[in-house]
Amino acid sequence: MALQFEHTDRFLKETRLYEPDDSTVSRANITAYMRSKGFSTWDELYRWSVANPEEFWSEMARELEWMKPWKTVRRWEPPYVQWFVGAQCNIVHNALDRHMRTPVRNKVAFYWEGEDGARRTLSYADLYQEVNRAASALSKLGITKGDRVIIYLPRIPEQIISMLAVARLGAVHSVVYSAFSAPALRDRINDAQAKAVIACDGYYYQGKLVERKSVVDEALRDNDTVEHVIVVRRTGTDIPWQAGRDVDWAELVASGADRHPVEPVDSEHPLFILYTSGTTGKPKGVVHTHGGYMVGVYTTARFVFDVQPDDIFWCTADPGWVTGHSYIVYGPLINGVTSVFYEGAPTYPDPGRFWSIVQRYGVTIFYTAPTAIRGLMRHGDQWPAQYDLSSLRLLGSVGEPINPEAWVWYREKIGRGQVPIMDTWWQTETGSILITPTPITPLKPGSATRPFLGIEADVVDRSGQPVDANRGGYLVIKQPWPSMMRTIFNDPKRYEVYWNTIPGMYFAGDAAHKDEDGYFWIQGRVDDVISVSGYRLGSMEIESALVGHPAVAEAAVIGKPHPVKGESIKAFVILRKGYDAGEALVSELKQFIRQNIGPIAVPDDIQVVDSLPKTRSGKIMRRLLKAQELGLPIGDVSTLEE
Ligand code: PRX
Repeated sequence: MALQFEHTDRFLKETRLYEPDDSTVSRANITAYMRSKGFSTWDELYRWSVANPEEFWSEMARELEWMKPWKTVRRWEPPYVQWFVGAQCNIVHNALDRHMRTPVRNKVAFYWEGEDGARRTLSYADLYQEVNRAASALSKLGITKGDRVIIYLPRIPEQIISMLAVARLGAVHSVVYSAFSAPALRDRINDAQAKAVIACDGYYYQGKLVERKSVVDEALRDNDTVEHVIVVRRTGTDIPWQAGRDVDWAELVASGADRHPVEPVDSEHPLFILYTSGTTGKPKGVVHTHGGYMVGVYTTARFVFDVQPDDIFWCTADPGWVTGHSYIVYGPLINGVTSVFYEGAPTYPDPGRFWSIVQRYGVTIFYTAPTAIRGLMRHGDQWPAQYDLSSLRLLGSVGEPINPEAWVWYREKIGRGQVPIMDTWWQTETGSILITPTPITPLKPGSATRPFLGIEADVVDRSGQPVDANRGGYLVIKQPWPSMMRTIFNDPKRYEVYWNTIPGMYFAGDAAHKDEDGYFWIQGRVDDVISVSGYRLGSMEIESALVGHPAVAEAAVIGKPHPVKGESIKAFVILRKGYDAGEALVSELKQFIRQNIGPIAVPDDIQVVDSLPKTRSGKIMRRLLKAQELGLPIGDVSTLEE
């Protein structure tokens, strides 16, 4: 990764501060933990945790069950780390089996809702039963410890069941987002050298039938590692069938035994590979392990989302992404919490769908992405206003910086002006949340606040020296943590880049700055930094300012080469309903940026558009806008949504 700048400058100032209320603080899991350690403030607890990371993390690990204890908490041979060395465990034992001896057994694990209104409720005991059967059946098909299984399913219960069944066997799952095309699926199957693919006939999204089986067949042309394709019938439509290779999920699972023992694996045994796109080249297969990952997601779900026995938790992500792995599947299940799992689009059949689900199930904790919040905000306040959202007590955001306008709307219109928002910064590579508030943190809209317990984060220059407060630089993590990726599958050199770009530290690829209170403000990927007349500006910061104008629903900003200024700024904006594109509005927006950031950030060009290219997980693909603008090759678009 090329580091192109020494630091960035920050112009936008956000001064609002939201203190947590007393009842939130007094019932929070983090408060109880802090007291149990004899600390009276977060700062004291945090300082202890980073001074004693092995003690902190092993204390968390001891709350879970291990088949064999570890000999060494951490073995750090930079850039490679092992956690809980010598221990044996299986994450599925902690997500399911251990609950069979407690009242969690009869709790609901998932309230599933199909886009078409279909419903299914799975208790922990039901899920345990399904996972046992599926594991037994997969094992009869020859799937065994270490084998890679691709899961190419939409958000239906079988997606979760198959992840857990594969992991139960000590095999390695690699979930591929169900909307990916055949070439994207093929690259992932081939890179993982998968032995089986679990897929479906099709599914419904935004009311339309999306056919999948022929996509799988196309992806498997010329493949010689996949022995079986296991097909879940979701739509019941006619599909091509390859006798011998293709297996019907329902028939297969019916042939499984009621119980199939969980496979004890080494703490460092791989649990999953999840592909994430790099800026160039083929996708990277991020590898996570059973032991460390289990401890990371357990701890963060407990302290950040503050899950408690009576909560109804809803993370709107897809298990095709890391957010779904960690906070739909593993984190909530290990904590024994009840979740909602929704198949479809946020706006189907209308923009009130999310809120109708919150009302129906009495959701207490709701975790989504800024892109969804801005999208729903654009449809107007009348949608959330029609529903009873009084059950909500905690909100979350992830995936990109949440601009203060969207943050405040989220708090006011969804959170009744009082529900705290956990703006959680993390990545596929980090496995679990690293920079985040907890319910006791005073909040600043747009800031992910401070590092989590045991996480030593900083903002540094290219040589690794911390930069001054309010100076932007590179966001780094200075010590390894349990849920970090262990390698890039079949490509350790690409893994090492994360630790040798800024020597001795984990560099995530994001630009950020810290304010005078030590709060982190993420500016986005370093590739999205624009240099105008020597000033380094984060494209996200300008976008955030633009979205602060009442006419603008969404914005994307890129830099273009400029003979005098180095780069000039071009903005693409989507307008809210009721506003007309025109010269007057464009000059008003320029004036608005001048006032809110400064003259240096005023775009030379503002173009009104109907849509923006986004990844399937909702991130704006500035790279594409830039390529199009400059007439360059577009490159890999396998992650493009539209
Ligand atoms: O740029 C950061 C942004 O998303 C990147 C990680 O993307 P991915 O691996 O797909 O994982 C997304 C879900 C964890 C980061 O490098 N990002 C994620 N969360 C935030 C964020 N940027 C700002 N604030 C966040 N809360």
